Parts: sequence; C-alpha cells; structure tokens
Amino acid sequence: MKLKVLAACLLAASSPVLAEVDITPPTSATPAEGLEAWSRIYEVASHPRCANCHTGASDRPMWSGPSYGKTRPHGMNIRAGESRIGAEHVLCSTCHTTKSDDWAKANTTSHAAPRVAMDWQLAPVEADWFGRTSVEICEQLRDPERNGDRDMLALAEHLDHDLILHWAWKPGGGREPAPYSLQAHVNDILIWGTAGFPCPEN
Ligand code: HEC
Ligand code: HEC
Repeated sequence: MKLKVLAACLLAASSPVLAEVDITPPTSATPAEGLEAWSRIYEVASHPRCANCHTGASDRPMWSGPSYGKTRPHGMNIRAGESRIGAEHVLCSTCHTTKSDDWAKANTTSHAAPRVAMDWQLAPVEADWFGRTSVEICEQLRDPERNGDRDMLALAEHLDHDLILHWAWKPGGGREPAPYSLQAHVNDILIWGTAGFPCPEN
C-alpha cells in the first residue's frame, strides 16, 4: 500500500496530464449487459499491453503484440523471481526506470524499456492472463481469494490508481494501446460487477 501512496504523490507532482477517472456504478445492470461488458473486459485483459505482465506461474514477462513481430519471452533472459521485481536476478527498474524529467516524452522511443513513475513489476501469480481463455480470466478476476481481495469498487479504484494502467492506454513508442479507454474499461468493470460478475459458459 505504501507504493500506492508514493505513486499518488508522484502522480500529483510530475504527471498533471493524467485524466481523472469517474467511478460511478450504474444503478442496475442485467446479466446480459454484464456479459457484454465482460467480453470487452476480456479484450482488454488479453491484450498484449496487459497480458505481457500477467504471465502467472511463469516468472518470465512476455514480448508480444504487433510492435514485437513474433511472440516470445522477454529477451536477455529476464526473470522476475518470487519478488516479481527481479530482486533475485536483475531488477526490472534497472531498465524500466521510475524517473523522468518529462513524463510526456518518457516513452517515445521504439523498443526502449517502457517507464512509469512507479515500480515496474510482474503481476501476482494468481492474476494469470497470458494465453488464458475468457472463462479462466473471468473466474479469477471475480474471486477475492485470487484478485487481491478486491470487490467491484476496489477493482475500479485499482485501475485508476495504477500508473502502469494509464501507460497501457498511452504506451507510445509505436506500441498498440489497449482497446477502448481506461474510463470505458472502468465503466465495464462497474457494469459487470453490478450485474453480479457473470462469466460465460465453458
Ligand atoms: C508492468 C506490468 C503490468 C502490466 C503491463 C499490467 N499489469 Fe495489472 N498488475 C500488475 C501488478 C504488479 C499487479 C498487482 C498490483 C497490486 O495488487 O497492487 C497487477 C494487478 C492487476 C489487477 C488487480 C486484480 C488482480 O487480479 O490481481 C488488475 C485488475 C489489473 N492488474 C489489470 C490490468 C490491466 C487491465 C492491464 C492492461 C490495461 C494491466 N493490468 C497491465 C502488473 C501489470
Ligand atoms: C536489461 C534491461 C531490462 C530489464 C532488466 C527488464 N526489462 Fe523489460 N523490457 C526491456 C526493453 C528494452 C523492452 C522493450 C523491448 C521492445 O520493445 O522491443 C522491455 C519490455 C518489457 C515488457 C513488454 C511491455 C509491452 O507491453 O510492450 C514487459 C512486460 C517487461 N519488459 C517486463 C519486465 C519485467 C517484469 C522486468 C523485471 C523482472 C523487466 N522487464 C526487466 C528491458 C528490460
């Protein structure tokens, strides 16, 4: 949690360009609306800008998406270790640095390591999305035992507070942004949650 507070300070100090996200759940949503929202959430979660870091039990980040050509594990034999920040090997922050004089220009160079004003790290083992089906990701994301103990509002707030996610919709450097927008994704989480977190049939 300390990290989040730090990120919020850095956000206020050096990234005034980030848009505020409105977190207002709808008063009601039908299961069908919930499922439609889920299908868009899945498009986002399975997109390379998200899935490259959500690699589950593997401690290898992935390089995938149009800017990479072919899909492969992160070059240079990078491993995140149990720490998920590379403490046992080479720290992610060696290349994915957390400082910039000008965040607006921090990610303009193609094939440079993406940077945000918080520690770059691999997602928790439970949040295993790379190559997973819609049903698998859906069941993980609605399960408090596997999603960091988050309810609908906590999921939405996490999405707003996390600077990595702001990057994913504005990655720069010739990378394809995640689909829709951060606000649209937060709205979909709120529709899906209000509808009772429906998941597609197997
Ligand atoms: C640089 C690596 C990285 C990228 C890229 C990334 N994430 Fe994550 N993600 C993490 C880490 C680390 C956590 C754990 C943070 C925490 O629990 O405070 C996390 C946790 C989450 C969570 C919390 C729920 C859970 O199941 O753990 C959600 C939701 C999430 N990410 C969504 C996304 C989405 C959507 C994208 C793309 C738009 C994305 N992430 C891209 C690293 C990443
Ligand atoms: C030696 C430098 C270096 C280290 C250390 C490093 N990376 Fe990277 N990383 C890069 C470079 C360079 C790229 C971009 C490669 C490209 O675009 O062709 C990259 C790209 C990525 C991507 C893909 C982002 C995207 O969606 O395009 C992820 C995910 C990633 N790194 C995660 C990590 C994690 C997690 C760690 C620590 C365990 C780490 N990296 C350590 C240099 C590094």
